[in-house]
Amino acid sequence: MSGEPYDDRGNKDLSIANPKGQGRMTPSPGTDHPMDTGEAYLVGDTMTGGYGAGPDILHDCTIAVNPGEIAVIVGPNGAGKSTAMKAVFGMLNLRQGSVRLDGEDITGLSPQDRVGRGMGFVPQTNNIFTSLTVEENLEMGAFIRRDDFSDTMAQVYDLFPILKEKRLQAAGELSGGQRQQVAVGRALMTQPKVLMLDEPTAGVSPIVMDELFDRIIEVARTGIPILMVEQNARQALAIADRGFVLVQGRNAYSGSGKELLADEEVRRSFLGG
Ligand SMILES: Nc1ncnc2c1ncn2[C@@H]1O[C@H](COP(=O)(O)OP(=O)(O)OP(=O)(O)O)[C@@H](O)[C@H]1O
Ligand SMILES: [Mg+2]
Repeated sequence: MSGEPYDDRGNKDLSIANPKGQGRMTPSPGTDHPMDTGEAYLVGDTMTGGYGAGPDILHDCTIAVNPGEIAVIVGPNGAGKSTAMKAVFGMLNLRQGSVRLDGEDITGLSPQDRVGRGMGFVPQTNNIFTSLTVEENLEMGAFIRRDDFSDTMAQVYDLFPILKEKRLQAAGELSGGQRQQVAVGRALMTQPKVLMLDEPTAGVSPIVMDELFDRIIEVARTGIPILMVEQNARQALAIADRGFVLVQGRNAYSGSGKELLADEEVRRSFLGG
């Protein structure tokens, strides 16, 4: 989060309501039931929009996650995965569609207000303060809290012991995998009700990826729903309760992680056979 994380946020035009109402996704080929996203805990529902006055990047795009779940968004580079996450976090100008959290329409809220409502977001890039120490990064994560957050910091150090060891080191000196732990830890410091991760395993080795996935599963088991984008599609879908394949800003396939992994077309087109 060096630099300004919100600088690509579009103008917010809230005059256009979602004409389509609550979303109910059509079944993907290879899956035999529609995915009911309308009542999900966190849902970006039939979102259409782009950056500022630019063209639409998302087209009727729906992503969602429920308590106890890990939901994974996969798709080719440039498909709009990060854009969909930013839209859910309030960094985009939605022309259609809505975002709901725990049944409440939050489409009009700023990202800051969404953090206040319990959303934790780890962006794909610039997700730590490189010149601050690990511990200062975690403290920054707790910026909205007025209570004593030392317990939460202890929990983060339990989850990521290496961060405790390196707590006085500048975060910018850490390895890629360790930086991602700082970023996830920072988001956990707000005690989020839902955690959104954009490519938490980007640029790390397969072993570190497995470790990060284990930690993410551990977080999910504590009851925090996780909505994450992953480029390691096969591995991510293997741990996903819910999966969304995005192509050119649209939902191409959706289903449980297992269903998507078993789907011939998904395998051929997105998982390398
Ligand atoms: N800040 C921005 N301003 C304008 N256009 C943008 C911005 N960020 C992304 N885009 C455009 O939106 C489209 C989708 O980009 P996005 O980053 O959402 O894709 P992605 O699926 O996350 O890709 P990747 O796998 O490479 O992370 C691309 O055409 C991209 O050029
Ligand atoms: Mg991206």
